[in-house]
Amino acid sequence: MDKGGKSSVDRTKAVCSQNVAALSRRDLVARLNEAEETLRAIRSGEIDAIFVNGQGGEKVFTLQGADHTYRLFVERMNEGAAVLSLDHTILHCNGGLARFFGAELQSVIGSSLLDLVWREDLLKLEVLLRRAAQKSCRGEIRLQSRKGAPVSVHLSLNPLQLDSTQAVCLIASDLSEIKRVEQALRASIEQFRNLAAHLLSVREEERARISREVHDELGQSLTAVKMDLSWLAGQLPQGNNKMLTRIRSTEQLADSIIHSIRRISTELRPAVLDLGLAAAVEWQVQDFQVRSGVRCKVRLLIREVVPSTASTGMFRIFQETLTNVARHAKATRVEVVLQKKGGRLVLLIHDNGQGFDQADASLSTSLGLLGMRERAAILGGEVNISSVPGKGTTVTAWIPLPSSEEYGNLP
Ligand SMILES: Nc1ncnc2c1ncn2[C@@H]1O[C@H](COP(=O)(O)OP(=O)(O)O)[C@@H](O)[C@H]1O
Ligand SMILES: [Mg+2]
Repeated sequence: MDKGGKSSVDRTKAVCSQNVAALSRRDLVARLNEAEETLRAIRSGEIDAIFVNGQGGEKVFTLQGADHTYRLFVERMNEGAAVLSLDHTILHCNGGLARFFGAELQSVIGSSLLDLVWREDLLKLEVLLRRAAQKSCRGEIRLQSRKGAPVSVHLSLNPLQLDSTQAVCLIASDLSEIKRVEQALRASIEQFRNLAAHLLSVREEERARISREVHDELGQSLTAVKMDLSWLAGQLPQGNNKMLTRIRSTEQLADSIIHSIRRISTELRPAVLDLGLAAAVEWQVQDFQVRSGVRCKVRLLIREVVPSTASTGMFRIFQETLTNVARHAKATRVEVVLQKKGGRLVLLIHDNGQGFDQADASLSTSLGLLGMRERAAILGGEVNISSVPGKGTTVTAWIPLPSSEEYGNLP
């Protein structure tokens, strides 16, 4: 009985028991349509039994039982399901799979799956099907929909023994929504990266400008103050020691302010960066050794001129790494190597300190390490950190180095 309580007995009975040759063409078409409708009803589970008039009288073929449940289950599931012969012909499939192709079920059954895949993924599918004939496997491919655009699906495949023949069964899950979200996420990451790059470059420009102004304007004015103080000291009448002492102490104060100005200006942006990355790294190492007392070994193996944005980015990564060594490592030795390796500029910093546990979840949001990684990513590179508790830490930062012909166009 079908779901609406209508019996499917008559139509099925009629198709199966009539002498087809005796029918008119119109009758034939009508019967054929009826048979197709019955088939569709069987597939979708609307019919649970068929009565057929044969020589031995009326027979009942029931679709109920485990078979019926499975048929319903396979037909109703959101995923596409199919059984393929070893030559990749689709022997059975559900409506879900046909929908991926935007095609009728009848036209999909009997086709080769290789003809229904997005051309660029043909090799990938062949590899998957070969493997699936032996053992369970999974993969992602794009199917060729009649609507034109590819449909990304996740395939889960298994070998299947059908009586004496070997086959493959597959389940295809639609990945379109996941792909759309992935795409939106990628676009959003790209936007944030562009924003971060913009903010970093604005920040570097601002630091360079403030550094210059502090150094030049404040520095020069204070030097003038010092000269004036020295002139005043020379104008004092003999024996005015009180005044002279006050002038000398003001001169010392001016000296210490000049010293502070130089330090602040250098911290904002070391002028040595204008001489190139290698010079800046060397200078920073000297400064680090003096401040931290950690012995450093440096190997600067590059002769290439590094574009200024890249130099500044790598230098900031280097500074953050040394700050971390000073703050967290308890190291006694640091080794620094700057070199060109296969079209990349590579900076390696190794310390022999206490190291840390990289599996620590809080590190994924730790801003210092995140900032280093982001700086390298903006320049098209990467930062890799390997640390073993008790055995020290190695930070390797690399960025692509433009070929020498491209230098002319670089900032
Ligand atoms: N060279 C290092 N030696 C030991 N621990 C380190 C080293 N570099 C980083 N770490 C660990 O990684 C953590 C995250 O570093 P970072 O993101 O720079 O944050 P912060 O320096 O502000 O703590 C540090 O708190 C520290 O535990
Ligand atoms: Mg840090």
